Amino acid sequence: MRSEGESPLRVRVLACESLGVRAFAARVDTPAGTLVVDPAVALAPRRQGFPPAPEELQAFYAAWDRIREALQEARFVAITHYHHDHQLPYLPDVFPDPPPRVFLKSPEDTNRSQKARAAFLIENLRKRGIPPEFPQGTQVDLGQEVSVWFSPPLFHGATPRLGTVMMVGVRAKNRRVLITSDIQGPVREEHLEAILHFAPHVLFLDPPMAPGGKMPEEFFSLMNRLFAELPLLEVVVVDHHPLRDPQMARWWKALNHRASAHGVRMMTGAEWNGTDTTLLEAQRAERWKARMRETEGWG
Ligand SMILES: [Fe+2]
Repeated sequence: MRSEGESPLRVRVLACESLGVRAFAARVDTPAGTLVVDPAVALAPRRQGFPPAPEELQAFYAAWDRIREALQEARFVAITHYHHDHQLPYLPDVFPDPPPRVFLKSPEDTNRSQKARAAFLIENLRKRGIPPEFPQGTQVDLGQEVSVWFSPPLFHGATPRLGTVMMVGVRAKNRRVLITSDIQGPVREEHLEAILHFAPHVLFLDPPMAPGGKMPEEFFSLMNRLFAELPLLEVVVVDHHPLRDPQMARWWKALNHRASAHGVRMMTGAEWNGTDTTLLEAQRAERWKARMRETEGWG
């Protein structure tokens, strides 16, 4: 895990694409206790014509073990939206005793499928006696000079088709870490404005999908403004959606070039943790084909 020097915040990515799974789960250790953001993990059932490779199943269970362990120590849990790679309806069964405070994305202003999944999770929280809190668009004081800012609802991407998400920004003394959740951006003015508003020192960012390595031009122009207008930004941890594409090196190079021009270090979630990037979904077909070649003639 990367230590942030004198920072009162320690962040560890629990699950994400560079750790071989679909997720953007993190634990943030603060002087007020541990906050776990989006404790869930998923795999694409079919990609490049193949089911998950055995390595992906291993990565899935390893990620889930890390999440379960983090939840045992959690005093706070935040759910940024209701897609399967960010929350699970049976999460309350995994919570410790006494359970953590649970901050949920408001379900009213999102799409129909997210609303239905939210209702399921809320029902299970209530069954365990946990009153969910809906802090969207506000700041919550956790004590010990720690607060968490929850953004107003932001589009999951460029359009409302996939519903909305809530970003999570943690502040301890003068140190700020922002997890964008699935904005798949910035690709809209509101995405950029919300990030600039919180002005993080460390930004965990989910950029847009980039099929064939081609990233929308809008993203680069908003990132140029982000780098220029955030002089305190030190590190951008880039992960999630676009790391599912085998051609990711194409946009990574272009973005890294812009980041370093502003003195910002760019890395994957795995690299932030101090481990190697392992892109399993992006390499699914390749891995299955290698496996089939190895076992040829054995049947
Ligand atoms: Fe996601």
